Amino acid sequence: MSTSQIIAIVNQKGGVGKTTTTINLSTVLATTGANILVIDLDPQGNTSTGFGVSQQDRKNNIYQALIGEISINQCIITTQVPNLNIITANTNLSAIELELVPLKDREYVLSKILKSLSSTYDYIIIDCPPSLSLLTINALVAADKVLIPMQCEFYSLEGLSHLLKTIELIEKNLNPKIKIIGILFTMYDKRNRLTEQVEEDVRRCLGDLVFNTTIPRNVRLSEAPSYGQPAILYDHKCSGSIAYIELTKEILDKKILYGE
Ligand SMILES: Nc1ncnc2c1ncn2[C@@H]1O[C@H](COP(=O)(O)OP(=O)(O)OP(=O)(O)O)[C@@H](O)[C@H]1O
Ligand SMILES: [Mg+2]
Repeated sequence: MSTSQIIAIVNQKGGVGKTTTTINLSTVLATTGANILVIDLDPQGNTSTGFGVSQQDRKNNIYQALIGEISINQCIITTQVPNLNIITANTNLSAIELELVPLKDREYVLSKILKSLSSTYDYIIIDCPPSLSLLTINALVAADKVLIPMQCEFYSLEGLSHLLKTIELIEKNLNPKIKIIGILFTMYDKRNRLTEQVEEDVRRCLGDLVFNTTIPRNVRLSEAPSYGQPAILYDHKCSGSIAYIELTKEILDKKILYGE
């Protein structure tokens, strides 16, 4: 594999499972032997916390790389997961929005610095903040693929159509190579009738774009970050971990990461 596939995990709605998906998908991919770089692009720094990275260990982080203070290679650190490195974030990153505004190529900053990475990764997985801010736009411009986690709730539908329009605009104007690899239902509860209805609507409208795999609501997934561990390591047999393993298989089987 010569170049990295860059996957952005995006939804402007908060709390839909972006970070949980980033952490567990990247961990399962790493267990297949792939070389992974995770980028925490959210000032909340939840992905960094979820991998157990302390605040002290985030001294060199994505913010400094974006403003050009240090090189991107200087902010990569290893994690407890073999084959998986991370670029962390902390609250400093919230200042970036204003700092990018005056720049002419402000949408391309992340894309440019990723090109200067010295080691080759099979996958670079970017966890985005809950907004369609310049940070998220930078991720979408850098990305080859987009994965959209969503909850089966009524209000999710409006958010989804806005997000799909944004991705279309990005494809037209800023990044023609971008492709959606799939919409992932998270915190899925089959017993809830609204879940069923929203799922039906989305599958009817978007068909193939929706993953067959769904991620169930599972308390082990929400406990794992407080131990600084991906759920896959914390409890690889829980229903949530099993679902993320299934999701990874579905992605690899369909060859959607490298196919057209
Ligand atoms: N399948 C699940 N079952 C139970 N809890 C979950 C599940 N997925 C995520 N959670 C929990 O729900 C909360 C939100 O999840 P997460 O942080 O992954 O969402 P997010 O989209 O990254 O949020 P934000 O928009 O704030 O970045 C967290 O407390 C997480 O542990
Ligand atoms: Mg998050």
